[in-house]
This record gives sequence, structure tokens and C-alpha cells, in this order.
Amino acid sequence: MIIAIDGPAGSGKSTIAQAVAERLALTYVDTGAMYRAVTLLALEKGVSLEDDDALGSLALEMEIDLSESAQGLPQVRVAGRDVTKAIREPLVSQKVSYVAAHRKVREALKLRQRGMAETGDVVLEGRDIGTVVCPRADLKVFLTASVGVRAVRRKRQLEEQGICISAKTLEREILLRDTHDSTRSVAPLRKPRDAIEIDTTELSIEEVVDRIAAEAVGVGSDGGGSC
Ligand code: DC
Repeated sequence: MIIAIDGPAGSGKSTIAQAVAERLALTYVDTGAMYRAVTLLALEKGVSLEDDDALGSLALEMEIDLSESAQGLPQVRVAGRDVTKAIREPLVSQKVSYVAAHRKVREALKLRQRGMAETGDVVLEGRDIGTVVCPRADLKVFLTASVGVRAVRRKRQLEEQGICISAKTLEREILLRDTHDSTRSVAPLRKPRDAIEIDTTELSIEEVVDRIAAEAVGVGSDGGGSC
């Protein structure tokens, strides 16, 4: 079964997608981490964030591995280097939506994400999974939440990684990123027509996971386990 979970930053996607993957014994794929990894590499290598060709090559060629740490937490490696924390640093968070707006970057990562979904047993989490990457996914979910709640969640998530930023700053960052993500010309963030929408503002993680797991029981693998 392929489950596509889309939604804006801080809507609870990562936590919920991981929990759904665990509950249903599916592989979790954090596609945002891939855009972040390209951004990190571009910043480190001094590649212009306006250079579509150079960014596209980075996206196509980077050696990325999405796996789990010994503690069972998602781990991101680029060319063997653990970048799990580095890709969440403020500079990467500020720049990633510029990188994600490039056609060649999106094209390269889309192909790689489809490759990762080939096993047919995955939960992919992102912004364009149900609309572009896996339009034939068996189940599409679109998560939303109020901006205030999203900022507080992001703050807690970052604090766990030892990064401290005020909720107000995060709220501004989130709104800016939402605008970029939903107004870009290539694969903008939008709810797939056939997705179930869940507002997570007042729901616990458990409640959302229960709802998605229940929906998953109801759908067969119509997509044939492909994107
Ligand atoms: O989910 P996140 O905050 O880690 O995503 C980082 C950025 O990547 C964000 O600006 C949206 C973008 N992104 C995207 O455009 N398409 C995806 N499938 C996943 C993330």
C-alpha cells in the first residue's frame, strides 16, 4: 500500500507519517528531508540558489540514504555523513523553499521518490505526493492546523534537537514558507481532490493516526502499489 501524506509545515505530517508507517509496517519516506539535503549541499558548496541546472545536478547525483538510527529515529545520510541535524538548521529552513521551487530539482527528486516507493509499501510525506509524485496512491491524506499551533509544534521539535527559536519567529518563517510553497509555479502545495483532509489543531497524534489507519483498512491497493 502507498499512502501519501501532504500538508504545510507544522501540520503534524512528520510525526503522524512516522507513526502511521510504524502502525501499518510500511517504510517512511520524508521527502522534505531530500529538499533540505539538496539545500544543505548547495550552501556548503557555494552553489547559487538560482542556478536551476547546478541545483538539478545536485538533486540527481547526491548520494542520499533515508534510514533509521539505532534508536529507531529517522536518520538522513548524504555520502555516508549523518546530516539529520544539519538539514534542520535555521539557514537551511530559510532557504529550502527557494531550492524546492526549481523545476530540475523537483523533477530529479520526483524520480528518486518514485524509486523509493517501488516496494509498494510506503508512507511518503511531503507537499506534492498526492498531486504529482504518486497521484495513484492508495490513500491520500491532507493535514492542516492553525498557524499558532504549527509554530509551537515546530519549536518543540527543534528544541528536541537542541535548537532554540521563538514561536513568533517560527510563525513568521512558516507563513513565508507556506506562501512560497503554495504559490510556486511547479508542483505548488495544494490538497489533492481525492484526499481526506484532517485538521489536526485540536487532535492528538493518536487520534489522527487512528483515523488514517481506519481509512487504510477501507481502501484496497487500487494503485497496484505503484505511484
Ligand atoms: O517538510 P519540510 O518542512 O521538511 O519541507 C522542507 C521544504 O521542502 C519546504 O519548503 C517544502 C519543500 N517540500 C516540497 O516542496 N515538496 C515536498 N514533497 C517536500 C518538501
